[in-house]
Amino acid sequence: MDKYQTFEYDVIIVGAGGAGLRAAIEASASGAKTALVCKSLLGKAHTVMAEGGVAAALRNVDSRDDWKVHFRDTMKGGKFLNQWRMAQLHAQEAPDRVRELEQWGAVFDRTKDGRMLQRNFGGHTYPRLAHVGDRTGLEMIRTLQDKGVHQGLDVHMECTIRWLLKDGERVAGCLGYQRESGRFVVFRAKAIVLATGGIGRCWEITSNSWEYTADGHAMAMWAGADLIDMEFVQFHPTGMVWPPSVRGTLITEGVRGEGGVLLNSEGQRFMFDNVPEMFQGDYAETQEEATEWVQQVIAGKQATVRRPPELLTRDVVARAIRKEVRAGRGSPHGGVFLDIASRRTAEEIKKKLPSMYHQFKELADVDITTDPMEVGPTCHYMMGGIRVHPETQESTVSGLFAAGESAGGMHGSNRLGGNSLSDLLVFGKRAGEYAARYAAETSSLGEINADEVQRVTAESLRPFDESDGENPYTLHEQLRTVMQNLVGIVRTDEDLRSALGKLEELREQTAKVKVGGNIQFNPGWHLALDLKNMLDISEAVTRAALERTESRGGHTREDYPGSDDEWGKVNNIVRQTDSGIEVFREPLPEMPDELKQLLKSE
Ligand code: FUM
Repeated sequence: MDKYQTFEYDVIIVGAGGAGLRAAIEASASGAKTALVCKSLLGKAHTVMAEGGVAAALRNVDSRDDWKVHFRDTMKGGKFLNQWRMAQLHAQEAPDRVRELEQWGAVFDRTKDGRMLQRNFGGHTYPRLAHVGDRTGLEMIRTLQDKGVHQGLDVHMECTIRWLLKDGERVAGCLGYQRESGRFVVFRAKAIVLATGGIGRCWEITSNSWEYTADGHAMAMWAGADLIDMEFVQFHPTGMVWPPSVRGTLITEGVRGEGGVLLNSEGQRFMFDNVPEMFQGDYAETQEEATEWVQQVIAGKQATVRRPPELLTRDVVARAIRKEVRAGRGSPHGGVFLDIASRRTAEEIKKKLPSMYHQFKELADVDITTDPMEVGPTCHYMMGGIRVHPETQESTVSGLFAAGESAGGMHGSNRLGGNSLSDLLVFGKRAGEYAARYAAETSSLGEINADEVQRVTAESLRPFDESDGENPYTLHEQLRTVMQNLVGIVRTDEDLRSALGKLEELREQTAKVKVGGNIQFNPGWHLALDLKNMLDISEAVTRAALERTESRGGHTREDYPGSDDEWGKVNNIVRQTDSGIEVFREPLPEMPDELKQLLKSE
């Protein structure tokens, strides 16, 4: 053990995006000795990819909004598979969490009378997203980081956690390595919060950067925790499709929230033909009505007509874009057109969407104030994750908590835009609070098993000893191709079974993956280690997708195109057992009658 540096804390937070930072602030404010461990540099997180706003029923722009409408929209967006208690707490607590952020220094855009401005987003009945132009996640990270650092948090940057250590049934610490030196490090802690974000790097076209390799999902599953809703992966409808080097980069939904329209190569607004039955009556049926809505929004009035169909939920819009492209009505580079230039003035576009303006100018040489963007779906967010108690965020392993994208249940089968930022504030706070409480009630640190540490470090170093194995980059590309082509937006039994076979082949090759060089800053070695997480979690997604023989939210089965009432009553739970990665069905928790009534009232 003395070969490794060892640290001791009450609470360790793994991951320093919005959820991790918010959890760390709360745990440390509760008196727990807290550290934040992050794989990247502090402040570099997928949170910044939630650009268009944070959803909270503040009622600053439309007084008809309240937590009940937000709850209903969230449940409807998730096609009613959401853990209702999480959706309720989220809708009720989001306004306070956003106001608190403002008190900590976040500078939101303003209404004329000085309140936080809110914009429209898909699936939200009213303008609900408080925002900072199209850089909302960035401003939130900046604010949380300032708050956390000034509160005196210990931060261990560029340190990747690989394994959770247990003492009997409870978590006792975690093992990782410093990316720069390659040295191993053990953190002993009474409680651990996983806030490692998503799994987007398993797909070829993604808005996720290199960090999002399913670390928390995999470590929790290996430690015996349940995962929930793993078949539900969100493809954001609008990523860049050209040039190839930036394919997948996010284009905020805020473009459509500000009036942007989707057009096919024939110039048709195809979303009018793609309104699912459950949303009929909620959206404008004619161009005239949709145009009137935009005019009312621009004038800062409460809308009296229905919103345009471009603001349907992400699952619906992504499928509709895919359909247009497959029907041969796509743009030159395999997407469709997103036009804001003909709806808003150049001045308004630059003011409301400054990052989009610069992104397209610099990366694609397109001026979005005069020309349309080419857009297509990009893997953006994981609805599925570590199963947590809705109030405490504790997983099914004692002392192990999760928050943000690594936790599952809140969003059901599809997340509404902007609900990730409010989710990470509400449940990041809760995770930090309850982890600190757990630590306070726990008399001593758990014992670390030195043999286990020895085994995991030896396994981690093994790729240096292989002589004729595969290159990790090749295996990663193959994995991404499998998931993109066979476990993408639309799935079939045949494709999913084929994916399982290919994942197994990749697993065999990964067991012999080889890397060169030494342990000092070696990205090839880091990727070789991440491959195991990605393979196991890709298998979890594929098995859950194979099991769910219906279409719902972010899971579309070409061979089972409709939603099935029986499947609407159960969650898929994924667990690692002695037989491998298995899927079990569990009935949804019973919802109280008053909330059932809320879902009916419109
Ligand atoms: O489109 C966006 O700005 C992304 C927001 C989100 O994922 O919540």
